[in-house]
Amino acid sequence: MITMTHKEFSQLASFVKDNFGVHLKPEKIMLINNRLQETINTLQLTSFSEYSDYVMKDKSGNALRILLDKVTTHHTFFYRESDHFAFVKNHVLPYYKNKLIQHDLRIWSAGCSSGEEPYTLAMLIDEFFGAEKAQWNTQILATDLSQVVLDVAVRGIYKVEATSKLPPGWLYQYFRRIDHEHVEVIERIKKEVIYRPFNLMEEYYPFKQKFHFIFCRNVMIYFDEPTKYSLIKQFYDHLEPGGFLMIGHAETIDRMKTDFQYVVPAIYRKPLA
Ligand SMILES: C[S@@+](CC[C@H](N)C(=O)[O-])C[C@H]1O[C@@H](n2cnc3c(N)ncnc32)[C@H](O)[C@@H]1O
Repeated sequence: MITMTHKEFSQLASFVKDNFGVHLKPEKIMLINNRLQETINTLQLTSFSEYSDYVMKDKSGNALRILLDKVTTHHTFFYRESDHFAFVKNHVLPYYKNKLIQHDLRIWSAGCSSGEEPYTLAMLIDEFFGAEKAQWNTQILATDLSQVVLDVAVRGIYKVEATSKLPPGWLYQYFRRIDHEHVEVIERIKKEVIYRPFNLMEEYYPFKQKFHFIFCRNVMIYFDEPTKYSLIKQFYDHLEPGGFLMIGHAETIDRMKTDFQYVVPAIYRKPLA
């Protein structure tokens, strides 16, 4: 086994932070060391310095993406942190249903991982609007840095147990069975989500219109404080007045540092103009 020195760790960590905002804490050295062993062996490299050189010189960005996949987690599941979905169903959707005369509801799932979060939202919206859904444009933009997870999301095939937290009936209504262990999200729901690769650290956000609500859950845990608050400012600027931001329940926003209003735990709102 090749062991990473502290110097090699800090070189790699600065590189990841500069490119993706992801802050690798020094205590993670052993974890990162272990997660990268297989990659180092496959590339037949003899040290982590050689590996860093290899990543930095790779102009395609592929090596960097693989590195990022190793050092972040994509853990997610359907109906995760169900309070958010209850809030959307009981407050956000009724509010916008009355308010949006153009019937154009704009939603962003930022750091969507393998798609369980945006698909859950699409199912919730489908159930909420029912027969009226056809008169609404409610497509969800879902972005992530990792192309690996986005490919899984587009495919829309999951293990049956990944759906265990969904409300009763949704498994039969919104999935088709593939085999004993797997189900696939039905086409009607797949069409409601547009997947795109996007690095939240980009300075320029290429979105023409503002969103009515944004889910960015369990993503900011990777970022240090300055990075986190500049991202929160981006979300603020890309929300309509009165729009909502949902973050992970393990994450916090210091109200003194943003203009967002606190609504309930892990939900914030941009003030109405
Ligand atoms: C733990 S998953 C969260 C998935 C989902 N939001 C949830 O809460 O279940 C975190 C995701 O954030 C993505 N991520 C990390 N840094 C990112 C960045 N700079 N830009 C975009 N996505 C990023 C990772 O690729 C990963 O898929």
